[in-house]
Amino acid sequence: MAKKSVLDFIKMKKDGEKTAWVTAYDFPTAMFAEQAGMDMILVGDSMGMVLLGYKDTMPVTMEDCLAHCKAVRRGAPKTWIIGDMPFGSYQTSDEDAVRNAVRFMKEADMDCIKLEGGVRVASRIKAINDAGILVMGHLGLTPQSSGQLGGFKATGRDVKTARSLIEDALAVQEAGAYSVLIEAVAPELTAFLTKKLDIPVYSIGAGVECDGQLLICGDMLGQFQAFTPKFVKVYANIAETSVNAFKQYISEVKKGEFPTEEHVYPRKDSLEDFEKLFDEYR
Ligand code: KIV
Repeated sequence: MAKKSVLDFIKMKKDGEKTAWVTAYDFPTAMFAEQAGMDMILVGDSMGMVLLGYKDTMPVTMEDCLAHCKAVRRGAPKTWIIGDMPFGSYQTSDEDAVRNAVRFMKEADMDCIKLEGGVRVASRIKAINDAGILVMGHLGLTPQSSGQLGGFKATGRDVKTARSLIEDALAVQEAGAYSVLIEAVAPELTAFLTKKLDIPVYSIGAGVECDGQLLICGDMLGQFQAFTPKFVKVYANIAETSVNAFKQYISEVKKGEFPTEEHVYPRKDSLEDFEKLFDEYR
């Protein structure tokens, strides 16, 4: 299948066709996602928790993101891939935001970048868009500012926060974002924004009435064990499969049951010839 472009995603919104996407941080997961026909992949800074074992996403660096974006691009050469701007890469100034967004495009061959925030990052979105780089906004539960939200908490569940999210969404669209991801808000708000905005509106934990769904690969594949958010559906149990495989391997090694004949390289000369060789050294 041909690689999708931004025009395909805009057409999918118009046609009411939902976009399915996941996060991936490594070559094999990206390859499996592409083989499955995933519409797009996010190389999220959630890699900090899912892959690198940090307690949150704050320590993730540009270098971490670029290395994993490159691996994902190698695994999924025909898939639309979004590079996630890590904390500190765009908060400081419009110039830093453009400089770092450019790195995602030049060094890691990303199709666009994503950054968190609404009204307060509108000038960043405009600056990056003006540099010719497509931007996806990210509103609602924004992990990089979760401290200000009081933790990883759903929002937009009351009129006051819903109003400020509507203002944020309008600002993101006005600034030139080509799409926006809404995380962990009341589904009615997502449905409203999907109708109100011209750009595609995607959900992670924000209900079904929108232009597509994102899940974190570590959550949906049952790899990430620290906690599972309410909005996650677990489609596989990779953790259990891996632990069971490791246990069986340990047991077979200890009992000498692995390797067997099928796992070794048979000799090409006769056993007698080998014995003669060994005799020379005995
Ligand atoms: O980093 C990420 O995977 C994200 C999601 C939580 C939306 O930004």
